[in-house]
Amino acid sequence: QTGHFTYDPGFTSTAACESRITYIDGDEGILLHRGYPIEQLAEQGDFLETCYLLLYGELPTAAEKADFDYRVTRHTMLHEQMNRFFSGFRRDAHPMAVMVGVVGALAAFYHDSTDISDPHQRMVASLRMVAKMPTIAAMAYKYSIGQPFVYPDNNLDYAANFLKMCFSVPCEEYKPNPIFAKAMDRIFILHADHEQNASTSTVRLAGSSGANPFACIAAGVACLWGPAHGGANEAALNMLEQIGTPDRIPEFVARAKDKNDPFRLMGFGHRVYKNYDPRARIMQKTTHEVLGQLGLSNDPLLQVALELEKVALSDEYFVEKKLYPNIDFYSGITLRALGFPTTMFTVLFAVARTVGWIAQWKEMIEDPSQRIGRPRQLYTGAPQREYVAITDRV
Ligand code: SDX
Repeated sequence: QTGHFTYDPGFTSTAACESRITYIDGDEGILLHRGYPIEQLAEQGDFLETCYLLLYGELPTAAEKADFDYRVTRHTMLHEQMNRFFSGFRRDAHPMAVMVGVVGALAAFYHDSTDISDPHQRMVASLRMVAKMPTIAAMAYKYSIGQPFVYPDNNLDYAANFLKMCFSVPCEEYKPNPIFAKAMDRIFILHADHEQNASTSTVRLAGSSGANPFACIAAGVACLWGPAHGGANEAALNMLEQIGTPDRIPEFVARAKDKNDPFRLMGFGHRVYKNYDPRARIMQKTTHEVLGQLGLSNDPLLQVALELEKVALSDEYFVEKKLYPNIDFYSGITLRALGFPTTMFTVLFAVARTVGWIAQWKEMIEDPSQRIGRPRQLYTGAPQREYVAITDRV
């Protein structure tokens, strides 16, 4: 019993946070958003439909969807003065460092959506966050490669617009590949929300103090960056590249099992899933589709990933500890095939997860019983004792 603490946010029930947004059954590998299975949302809908569902609790009618799409696209541009923000960063800064800084700075520009007691301002803040994250992410990427920023194109859907802002250049026409846009949209859906994970809990805790939504989302971005959380997609691809060929898999599996070796199989294991992460299955299918479209079905990293999964899932260590691939295991291979560098992988996770963060923040703020969060602790330090003058210390 050392250093343990009980997380009791104190704003809903004594045991844990209550929410109506996402349900996970870790033993069965089930993920529902407002009751709808992630498999159906990913296969049949688009990302903005999932955003609407997470924010408002129901699937939109055709008219509601058209209105929501229109309202989101009205907020895709960033305040022009924010462009200057980026030039303050080193070109080789990690894009997540840029995201933390720029997202937090939104509060310095959009004062008309920081009053959390005003339902209209909360709604505008939600739309702004969903709409502007792709623009900020694309600008962080363009800045890192020394290319000019590309303004949003409101004639394109969410994912296609994001790809255009990332990959188009002023000197030639750009048409988003529909297969890539569909894959990007599905990846956004898979990453949209995931109950009370570390970064969502960070957003809720920050929000429980009354901090404005932009500051809370910036806190979520910071937490997501860690390699044990959202940073795992970047770490997983780096791991697959380090393994390189299937014949080196046993060496790395042995390291992952060695308690004296800090190496862990990135993209494996989960705090909640003790079964296959349902998102990983859809991610693997998307990876096959995208690589197939590119004629890369024999991509060496995909072969390493498939073989690594097979070896790990037949190894008693992983079976006994119920360690399965999670969403981060295959996502990196797809994102690399879409043209993104590994440093952008967690940024894309943050773009998608913003709607989950803001939906959970909104649910908490609109809960009349919510109070400031205050994690509890079990004190394991020194008992009370008398002060000793420095001259008497040995
Ligand atoms: C995400 O919470 C969420 O919902 C997060 C997320 C979301 O959508 O928000 O799903 C996104 O963060 C997914 C996880 C991405 N992280 C990684 O892939 C990093 C690699 N995974 C591990 O670091 C680990 O699995 C964690 C951090 C994800 C979970 O850590 P836990 O809670 O310690 O895992 P556990 O309790 O199930 O571990 C059981 C045992 C432990 O060994 P023992 O103490 O029993 O001896 O399995 C070991 C762990 O050390 N273990 C691993 C391992 N993961 C756990 N051993 C080798 N390789 C691994 N990947």
